Amino acid sequence: MARAKIALIGAGQIGGTLAHLLALKELGDVILFDIAEGTPQGKALDIAESSPVDGFDAAMSGANDYSEIAGADVCIVTAGVARKPGMSRDDLLGINLKVMKSVGEGIAAHAPNAFVICITNPLDAMVWALQKFSGLPTEKVVGMAGVLDSARFRHFLADEFKVSVKDVTAFVLGGHGDTMVPLTRYSTVAGIPLPDLVNMGWTTQDKLDAIVQRTRDGGAEIVGLLKTGSAFYAPAASAVQMAEAYLKDQKRVLPAAAYVSGAYGLDDMYVGVPTVIGAGGIERVVEIQMDDAEMAMFQNSVDAVKGLVKACQDIDGSLV
Ligand code: APR
Repeated sequence: MARAKIALIGAGQIGGTLAHLLALKELGDVILFDIAEGTPQGKALDIAESSPVDGFDAAMSGANDYSEIAGADVCIVTAGVARKPGMSRDDLLGINLKVMKSVGEGIAAHAPNAFVICITNPLDAMVWALQKFSGLPTEKVVGMAGVLDSARFRHFLADEFKVSVKDVTAFVLGGHGDTMVPLTRYSTVAGIPLPDLVNMGWTTQDKLDAIVQRTRDGGAEIVGLLKTGSAFYAPAASAVQMAEAYLKDQKRVLPAAAYVSGAYGLDDMYVGVPTVIGAGGIERVVEIQMDDAEMAMFQNSVDAVKGLVKACQDIDGSLV
């Protein structure tokens, strides 16, 4: 069978890392696209030159013309600007909305059958706009946030408990922003929920609360350290996991910024929810039960996302 074709729209920090990870995993041939001339070509050639050393068979190429992404099976979108210290994800909205328009049109024209994973921030609003601009089916356009947010949560928890990250599962709902909802009740160490671990004396409620807050601030913590941009290794790894679930029809249960209409009492919006990802794209939105406090936090997050969507509509009248 022919190799899959994976188009990376944006060949910056995340785009380059994505290309390298996809190549190492031999998930398909990779085309890096960017408006910057030379950058996608240079990164593609550099990674291709590492292939004899690492022993992977995956073609790497760079492009500045959308026609090169023709027929892509997967598109991962990181085009746009990233945060600098002092900026929130929401500060990127005006610039990145224009970028989503050109990216959406490019994908619609050349790769209308692709599974599209958006990473550009502010995520929930950008993936919503990208779906509208591209006109692709809602189950084929999704945002990467939940895998990253829960990976951060899992890392902090594994570090606190001194156990393998493999045995920690974590659950994060809501928008990819300060209002995200890490759900402790659904997060476990080898199946033991976090509140039980507090009762067992593995940690304290105060420490757990601090970890939850650190998870919410996870992106800002990296921005503060890097000073010149935002996180790229963990975001790239997270999107690769979603692409792999689609390409291999794994039916993985992964949190993602998915289109929700009906579930959670929501209508026609993108927000972070648990999903099943397989060959059909987002094959299912998993509607979990929440208690009143959890529901209030989720609603707060939904309201923040709605505010960003409204801001997009105010900027671009074609978005309804
Ligand atoms: N079309 C294609 N590429 C574009 C466009 C466009 N209209 N506008 C900008 N780009 C490219 C830039 O040339 C740059 O190479 O997008 C790339 C972005 O790369 P970085 O600035 O390195 O940003 P990165 O760290 O990869 O993050 C990208 O993901 O997590 C989010 O908040 C982050 O929105 C940001 C995005």
